Amino acid sequence: MSSFEVLPLDHIGAEIVGLDPHGMTEEVKRDLYATWLDHGVLLFREAAPDPETHVKLAKVFGDLEIHPVKSLLVPGNDELIFLGGHGKNSGGARVMDGNVLIGQTYWHQDTAYTPNICKGSMLRMVKKSERFGNTIWSDTSKAYDALPKAISDRIARLETLQCYTDMPRRTWGMPGSALRHATSEEGPQSEVEVPDFPYVVHPMVTTHPENGRNALLLSPLGYLTILGMPEDEADDLFEEVVAHTLKPEFCFDHTWTEDDLVLWDNRRTLHYAEGFPVDDDRMIQRATLAGPQPTGREFEGDAARSAGA
Ligand code: SIN
Repeated sequence: MSSFEVLPLDHIGAEIVGLDPHGMTEEVKRDLYATWLDHGVLLFREAAPDPETHVKLAKVFGDLEIHPVKSLLVPGNDELIFLGGHGKNSGGARVMDGNVLIGQTYWHQDTAYTPNICKGSMLRMVKKSERFGNTIWSDTSKAYDALPKAISDRIARLETLQCYTDMPRRTWGMPGSALRHATSEEGPQSEVEVPDFPYVVHPMVTTHPENGRNALLLSPLGYLTILGMPEDEADDLFEEVVAHTLKPEFCFDHTWTEDDLVLWDNRRTLHYAEGFPVDDDRMIQRATLAGPQPTGREFEGDAARSAGA
């Protein structure tokens, strides 16, 4: 018998209610893990007043990774990184539909710029921003299941070429939206050193290693093209699949309260950080679940000639 309640959220994911993070039996931990596999995104509202509780809950879902970028580590707690604020970790200001925002990150799957995406992550809101600052997740298994058969058949064996970047080629799936880096007059510039990651190739459809469900691996932030297809055709198809995946019925749009935790399964979700105004502040901490998931491979061809190859 679980000592927590599972309340499905409006479209995807579930809220965990009544859990005592400091009194979890092995059975409760197993139930929580199974609930996570079922729902893909779990919300624990105001559940973690401190980093210790965050780490304790995150560890129910696997070992944690120590982030290689040491400047991101939370002082005194190597298992957490912090994101946001006005320092080096903000990644520079962006202008999205006329709003100058810090901490904005376009729709992505974590580490999709490597051949092995990570298993999942858990965020804790430490200091919320007063305006904007939402995070949105899309369940790509649910979206896959609802694809028209003609599209799921068409993409079944297709692969995308992906790169490390902080700016998508287009606002895939959000037609009409305009996104660009802010000028130095508009907001702070990124101080993040851009690593030299090789291009990678990922299948558009993966099978989840633990629940056996198909999911879309799209990571629009780093998408360059679909291999073996003329660029225009690839972009039209990619746009159609992403727009389908971002429909509200596949998304959970979270307005944060401080001490909320949200855990997601990176193998079947995309997420989007809306960012916050430059005159505001926001601090969020993240625990990352270790265990790279082999999904893709390094690209060995010539990226400039990959379309239609
Ligand atoms: C992330 O992409 O892990 C950060 C999400 C956020 O800042 O809301």
